[in-house]
Amino acid sequence: MKRKTLTQYLVEQQRSGQSMKPELRLLIETVARACKTISHAVSKGALGGLLGALETENVQGEVQKKLDVISNEVLLEANEWGGHLAAMASEEMETIHLIPNRYPKGEFLLLFDPLDGSSNIDVNVSIGTIFSVLQMPNGVEGADVTENEFLQPGRAQVAAGYAVYGPQTVLMLTIGQGVVGFTLDRETGSWILTAEDITIPADTKEFSINMSNMRHWAPPVRRYIDECLAGKTGPRGKDFNMRWIASMVADVHRLITRGGIFMYPWDSREPNKPGKLRLMYEANPMSMLIEQAGGAATDGNQRILDIQPTTLHQRVGVVLGSKNEVERVTQYHQEAQT
Ligand code: AHG
Ligand code: MN
Ligand code: MN
Repeated sequence: MKRKTLTQYLVEQQRSGQSMKPELRLLIETVARACKTISHAVSKGALGGLLGALETENVQGEVQKKLDVISNEVLLEANEWGGHLAAMASEEMETIHLIPNRYPKGEFLLLFDPLDGSSNIDVNVSIGTIFSVLQMPNGVEGADVTENEFLQPGRAQVAAGYAVYGPQTVLMLTIGQGVVGFTLDRETGSWILTAEDITIPADTKEFSINMSNMRHWAPPVRRYIDECLAGKTGPRGKDFNMRWIASMVADVHRLITRGGIFMYPWDSREPNKPGKLRLMYEANPMSMLIEQAGGAATDGNQRILDIQPTTLHQRVGVVLGSKNEVERVTQYHQEAQT
């Protein structure tokens, strides 16, 4: 069988009459190239002196790991000069990153979580990169960009994806035409198409949540998990399995591959924050991928992709994955309100 590369896939998409612009193709290829570089750095680990933390904190008050900062720089440098972007935003930067004046500007906005699952870097467990692509609202190239232009609901994304740096390095992508997956061939350095028409089963027997937070959950979340734990003789009439990797990319990749439900819901540890995960560069891109694969994504009360953001780094409760399970959790939230 002839192997299809990411470039071939994107060129075919462009030719097949889809409205994908050449600059979007350039953008996706550039992000994929940056992910290749990050994958290489990640795999060096202690040999590259890349493990461990820095003394700095990011805007979220989290201690930055060396690889958080390196991955952020790799993505910035790769995307700065191509002329496809108006600006970038990242988990690791408080304010948006404008394209320097010496480079041409394009109409797209790129947001990313450069390294997701930072707590797993030093222990050699899967980590990844998540990205989201928006268009400048007025489509004007070279206009002055502010944070306001980024504050679009997730349904406006024109592309989204993630890379997982695990036993294999894999890139999952949507440009609004379903979800496809590529595996990095380390010998040739190419991304090879290895999964097409990805569909998440509507039902599942596997859930993913950090159980140590159980005592802080809202009643509807507790009810859902209690019923899963009750197993065959409980209200669900079946036994459930549990997995928690603590890298959203790896947990989402598992459920996109074989079904499941992933939750990082609001909890009462920090009652004023809507959740732990960030809307614009974690929840939104993952929700677009999940919906494009036939799944669902909600904060418990509302479709994530419909949330109107008010700040770049805002947080959100996340419940996503197999459609019927996500709908059940939503229903439990509705019932709790009446
Ligand atoms: P990041 O490393 O980008 O800050 O994200 C980590 C996130 C997410 O990937 C994961 O699902 C979650 O934090 C794990 O949180 P707990 O350690 O609270 O389980
Ligand atoms: Mn993250
Ligand atoms: Mn991160």
